[in-house]
Amino acid sequence: MNAANVSLKEKYSHFIGGEWVESASGRTFETRNPATGELLAQVAAGDASDVDRAVETAWQAFRTSWSRTDANARGKILYQIAEVIRNNSEELAQIETLDNGKPLMESRLDMYLASECFEYYAGAATKLEGKTVPVFGERLDYVLREPWGVVGQIIPWNFPLLMAAWKLAPALAAGNCVVLKPAEQTPLSVLRLCELLSDVVPQGVINVVTGFGPEAGAPLVKHPKVKKIAFTGSTEVGREVMAAAAVNVADVTLELGGKSPQIVFPDADLDAALEGVLLGIFYNAGQQCSAGSRLFLHEDIYDAFIEKLVERTRRISVGDPTKPETQMGPLVSREQQKRVLGYIELGVKEGARVLVGGQAPEDPELRRGCYVEPTILVDVQNDMTVAQEEIFGPVLCVLRWNDYGTMLEQANGVPYGLCAGIWTRDLLQAHKTAQRLEAGYIWINQYDVYAYGAPFGGYKQSGVGRELAFETLYHYTQQKNVNIDLSGKPSRWFR
Ligand code: NAI
Ligand code: MG
Repeated sequence: MNAANVSLKEKYSHFIGGEWVESASGRTFETRNPATGELLAQVAAGDASDVDRAVETAWQAFRTSWSRTDANARGKILYQIAEVIRNNSEELAQIETLDNGKPLMESRLDMYLASECFEYYAGAATKLEGKTVPVFGERLDYVLREPWGVVGQIIPWNFPLLMAAWKLAPALAAGNCVVLKPAEQTPLSVLRLCELLSDVVPQGVINVVTGFGPEAGAPLVKHPKVKKIAFTGSTEVGREVMAAAAVNVADVTLELGGKSPQIVFPDADLDAALEGVLLGIFYNAGQQCSAGSRLFLHEDIYDAFIEKLVERTRRISVGDPTKPETQMGPLVSREQQKRVLGYIELGVKEGARVLVGGQAPEDPELRRGCYVEPTILVDVQNDMTVAQEEIFGPVLCVLRWNDYGTMLEQANGVPYGLCAGIWTRDLLQAHKTAQRLEAGYIWINQYDVYAYGAPFGGYKQSGVGRELAFETLYHYTQQKNVNIDLSGKPSRWFR
């Protein structure tokens, strides 16, 4: 037992065909608690042979049973998965916090959202319909939507179980079997979920291969029996995944990085905007693809807003994520902490100024963990590296604006296009700006609010395809057209 009161095993294996399976190589890796550095467990380090075993198992399950399980039955299973998550949400949340470092309150919300995601797709399973097409002559033409068979899913570490839910739920609803690779930093919650689901989900329908990206992720992408890959992670790896999927002409959806603008107009409700800006950059310690990491503040309200923002940022309680009063935990790993501190240093070299934070906290209690103080950089120019690249940590870049056209050009002037926040009381202004922003998901007078049914995904290099929506089911199916002669007369071409 550890501080969080969950019992972890010393060693975790792959979950294949409903069983725990060690790596063919026998190799393992460590997963650690980023708040303390404490070793949590050894985990099987998979490679191509483990991936092959998982894909073959998934393929067998698909051919022999899952492909014959009707949509209604699949939907019921998804409802049961939602129930299992809800009934075990406290344990799953504790595991998530141990492995990822996010405050317990955030882990609990992740579990709630994960169960809701399964419920949304549980209901959707029976609504995924084909169509008939009007065709010439005495003929009937209809289109079936059929599952791919085995899909490969690669999950990031920032919302480990929630991102697994976003991917598993539509894949299963559409009738696929899955081989899922969790991030090497955070494999534990999805493994525990698999264990909890052993009486609910038929064997071989969900398989998990743990391990590192190049050894376990890459062979999944290149496996000839995997015809669809869904990936969430860095744009850099997303590009590699897309290229590797081309080998077998597999379909891909990618949910990648962001550098989303939060635009505050002078007429905005500044108290509401302040809450939205804080949430957008410090939730999950800024480790979210949707992070509102570039704040465009109009010059008329700049000083007043900054004063409040600094005061509120100083009050964020950073520390042990298992304590109820903690608002921000550590980053996920030492590597991520170094990366984020490196960006802050670079920002300063480029001419930005640190108003708050800027380093690892001095508190000796927190030294063992991968903490970074909530940080605000001002005097940022849009062409600086810190304004162009995804930092993926609690670092807000502030830009001052006065000319609407220039501000819009800068808001769009990054390679990414995931999200954006618009803060104004002028509806016309809000809608006009929403139309002009190159982003896939836009919030007006709020931030970081998601709806099942609403498509989430990026413009430009933030990705391809959408998640969370009904149409996500289309990404998990292929179309089969059937054309039937009804005339009964042979049609002669060669006489
Ligand atoms: P990453 O893109 O390397 O990792 C994401 C997932 O991809 C992990 O499961 C990893 O094992 C897997 N992976 C890595 N290389 C692979 C390969 N060659 N083939 C197949 N799978 C592979 O991200 P990383 O290194 O953990 O973080 C680096 C940066 O990526 C972060 O600082 C952040 O900017 C971005 N990122 C964005 C996320 C998002 O939600 N959009 C999530 C995680 C990271
Ligand atoms: Mg990586």
